[in-house]
Amino acid sequence: MEDSQFLSRCSADTIRLAAESLFEGNLVAFPTETVYGLGADATSADAVAKIYKAKGRPADHPLIVHVHSMQAMEPWVSDIPAYAVSLARDFWPGPMTLVMMRSALAKDFVTGGQDSVGVRVPNHPIALSLLQEFHKLGGKGVAAPSANRFGHVSPTTSKAVHSELNEYLEDLDLVLDGGQSVIGLESTIIDCTHDAPLILRPGAITAVMIQSSTGINRLKVDKTSELRVSGSLEKHYSPLARVILDQVPVSGQGYIAMSTFPTPHGVIRLAQPGSNEEFARDLYSALRKADELGLNSLVIQQPPGDGIAIAIRDRALRASKGR
Ligand code: TXA
Ligand code: MG
Repeated sequence: MEDSQFLSRCSADTIRLAAESLFEGNLVAFPTETVYGLGADATSADAVAKIYKAKGRPADHPLIVHVHSMQAMEPWVSDIPAYAVSLARDFWPGPMTLVMMRSALAKDFVTGGQDSVGVRVPNHPIALSLLQEFHKLGGKGVAAPSANRFGHVSPTTSKAVHSELNEYLEDLDLVLDGGQSVIGLESTIIDCTHDAPLILRPGAITAVMIQSSTGINRLKVDKTSELRVSGSLEKHYSPLARVILDQVPVSGQGYIAMSTFPTPHGVIRLAQPGSNEEFARDLYSALRKADELGLNSLVIQQPPGDGIAIAIRDRALRASKGR
């Protein structure tokens, strides 16, 4: 199979072309501030089927619908609680997905057969203008999971998208390049189908931020939520290298830790972030680097505390479960 087209200069024309291609039923991988997404017309069963095929993902896993504005979200949902409106106003465009009761527009092939649908307005200039152009053509929304093979580490650069998906994309599919994703971890997913918000996946929008936006201090905590989140499966976000948490690394092992931790002799330093934000941004590319170097194992020294550190530890733990 030929390489899918790689468009690194995202001029307005390029983005229009990509929107047209999406509208015609092809796949477009695009940058967002969290991770790269693999997009398809969310109203087309055939287009969405291509996502599952390219990712090797089970078809009953729900996808996030990406739109360019809060208004563009409305056709997808049937009920928007007041606290969800606060969240959308405060954090969109941004690294947050809201799960709400679906409308008839959100078909089973997008929601994995659930009565709810996940929607997000991403905060990235290329993603937003792609979604705007798609909307101008009459498009309703773009279903996009992270642009990696099922169970692998999410891509935070277009190069990582290529190494994940090149052989699974078709000639008319596109990959847009928008540099490195600045947040580096997937969006916070918030279930908004109950009387209070429930965090299904931690991310850059934290519990404290949700509380102060909504005025609701008691978020729901329910680990046995019946909603299916593939991100909450074990064996996810994993490199080939074995991931070990919070040990002193030995010679030959990779090492991801804050810059205040020294690199022991013979250890391969994969990342030395100076802050939790940098840790989040660099974690996935560091895991990829371990595989590129063919390392057998690596150690992650997890950052303590709240904020995005919670999401970092969540992904580190999953990575440590192995593929
Ligand atoms: O940051 C992100 O959210 C990225 C970028 C591309 O937007 N997308 C992403 O998609 O991480 P994905 O498919 O890799 O993960 C989306 C998660 C899945 O775990 C899925 O199960 C969950 O969202 N999800 C989607 N719709 C849902 C729903 N109706 N109920 C519960 N979980 C849902
Ligand atoms: Mg994913």
